[in-house]
Amino acid sequence: RDPPLAMGVEDVVREELGSLHGIPLYKSFIEGWPQVKAFQARPDDLVIATYPKSGTTWLSEIMDMIYQDGDVEKCRRDAIFNRVPFLEMKAPRVLSGIGQLEKTPSPRLVKTHLPVQLLPTSFQEKGCKVIYMARNPKDVVISYYYFYQMAKMHPDPGTLSEFLETFMTGKVAYGSWYDHVRGWWEKKNEKLLYLFYEDMKKDPCHEVQKILQFLGKDVAEGMVAKILHHTSFQEMKKNPAANYETMPTALMDHSLSPFLRKGISGDWKNHLTVAQNEHFNQHYQKHMAGSDLCFQMEV
Ligand code: PPS
Repeated sequence: RDPPLAMGVEDVVREELGSLHGIPLYKSFIEGWPQVKAFQARPDDLVIATYPKSGTTWLSEIMDMIYQDGDVEKCRRDAIFNRVPFLEMKAPRVLSGIGQLEKTPSPRLVKTHLPVQLLPTSFQEKGCKVIYMARNPKDVVISYYYFYQMAKMHPDPGTLSEFLETFMTGKVAYGSWYDHVRGWWEKKNEKLLYLFYEDMKKDPCHEVQKILQFLGKDVAEGMVAKILHHTSFQEMKKNPAANYETMPTALMDHSLSPFLRKGISGDWKNHLTVAQNEHFNQHYQKHMAGSDLCFQMEV
């Protein structure tokens, strides 16, 4: 047991969220905000942006495989949270996302959950590419509920019914799912590829081809199949470099719920009552009104 880390971990466990420009967020991340805001991007940085629990780790592993030309061993060089640094991450006594990025050679992959209006301006100034991945909110809320339980930097989620309300009113970490997916959707252009978790489930080959085209990258035959195999749910679940099991248990307790939990679309059907689902549908309709952004609630 490493006393300094243990000490740091205790500081963040089950702490209430703070607020960053109106977005609920971990207090330690807010402390690090000035450095994040001032972050100097490099033109060849690629941003992986998501609302939490929307397929970030999956997309990150796919991107690293592409960057490493399908070399599985190279993709085992470190845990995914070190291979793809988390921009706004800051916790006591561990290297911040910014600190990690400074040590990462180009071309860098950068993970963020920030809403579009909070992305450091340098990324746009330098013309960086962004891949955003969105997932339907019913599966997100269930995945988030289990994540709140296993990842101790979150406040106690309460019952599922209570958590649904917290989610719908945008009081979870990173705020309103609606604002997040809509905000990024509105900024879609040739530098921003907008993907869906459900499409990736349905036809991963097609989605990976889309990514390769976006990157302007030609790959050898058989490479896509190799990428798809290595990044399948089953492979990632047993891969210590991808499944988060190397995180200290005090921060993430996989015995409460594994980080790679189910990896399917439509699991919400096993959790929401008919009444909860109807309530959610009404709320969804109201908050997505006027948008051409559409979600598949199952595949
Ligand atoms: S985080 O903490 O916000 O970065 O989490 P994130 O990686 O975005 O989301 C975790 C959910 O993604 C699922 N996942 C996958 N699904 C399908 N295939 C693959 N390869 C895969 N890898 C991760 C993971 O299981 C979480 O979803 P749930 O529904 O909880 O299983």
